[in-house]
Amino acid sequence: EKGGYEHFMLKEIYEQPHAIKDTFRGRLRADQGLIRMAGIDQNLERFLNANRIIIVACGTSWHAGLVAEYIFEDLARIPVEVEYASEFRYRNPVISDKDVLIAISQSGETADTLAAIKLAKERGAFVFGVCNVVGSSIARETHAGAYTHAGPEIGVASTKAFTTQITVLTLMALKLAKASGTLSESRLHEMLSELEGIPAKVEKALESNALIEIISDVYKDSTNCLYLGRGYNFPVALEGALKLKEISYIHAEGYPAAEMKHGPIALIDEQMPVIVIATRRGHYEKVVSNIQEIKSRKGKIIAIVTEGDEQVRDLADHVIEVPESSESLSPLLTTIPLQLLSYHIAVMRGCNVDQPRNLAKSVTVE
Ligand code: M6R
Repeated sequence: EKGGYEHFMLKEIYEQPHAIKDTFRGRLRADQGLIRMAGIDQNLERFLNANRIIIVACGTSWHAGLVAEYIFEDLARIPVEVEYASEFRYRNPVISDKDVLIAISQSGETADTLAAIKLAKERGAFVFGVCNVVGSSIARETHAGAYTHAGPEIGVASTKAFTTQITVLTLMALKLAKASGTLSESRLHEMLSELEGIPAKVEKALESNALIEIISDVYKDSTNCLYLGRGYNFPVALEGALKLKEISYIHAEGYPAAEMKHGPIALIDEQMPVIVIATRRGHYEKVVSNIQEIKSRKGKIIAIVTEGDEQVRDLADHVIEVPESSESLSPLLTTIPLQLLSYHIAVMRGCNVDQPRNLAKSVTVE
């Protein structure tokens, strides 16, 4: 059932090119500039007239929500707030029938997310679900929705659910951008065909596996680890850190790279591995100067870079390449090496990768 892989997590990491294609299937017609999503079509006015979109989720799904904030604001120009479902539900939120709430959940059973949905519905908001499990509680409780179609995710650490959530949310943002005219036809066509090419690029990113295994061996005994990214890749840094801590039990923190100098820089010494996402498009020069700051404090730098990069290669201790892409689609690629890194480190530390201690696949109690 693990299809020849040692763990479900690794199988699911490798399934991502296919899973992302399955998310597109029947929805994306790049040649015609079309995206078909019935749940959006039938409720287009609710989205276009919304004061704002509020995204609620937990854990990795919350990270997908943070990526979506960048995508929706950047492409569709709709204001977005992203909230932990557990905080949203207990703080008497200001929400009305002019708001749209998007709930993101792989399992569709997360108690806090479900409770946030019920609260938003009581206050008249339109609620849209992005779930993986068909017929789940959240899928049934929402007014409309879009499934990720990632297939069953067995590993407790979420991998393909994350990338397919981002894929669905990108399709939604592009569809809304097309309907509201916030993106030119030509840019829309470009984005759609780039999106169609993402599975092949994910495949390419997976080719770094052997290199990542070597790097993992160097850092497997670390006790702390810092992940940095900016813009669209800030949430990816958070996700990379969550993945490492939940399966390898190494303490890890994700930060927006520029926040480093407001505190975390004090932690950096020759023992501290710092994983920096430094892809070419999106604040590249600024990230390079963050890397210089880490280097001058003797931190160990593992950089995720765009294919062919030379500048960071000269500074970093290790570089892992991902294919070139626009900034808005880069999280689908930069996430891959971070998943593999946490996987290999956890295996090398003898951890139970698929079922880490103290964790359940879906958190159905608050
Ligand atoms: O099923 P959900 O997407 O609602 O689950 C949310 C979180 O419990 C989940 O993403 C959790 O953080 C994962 N273990 C992360 O890998």
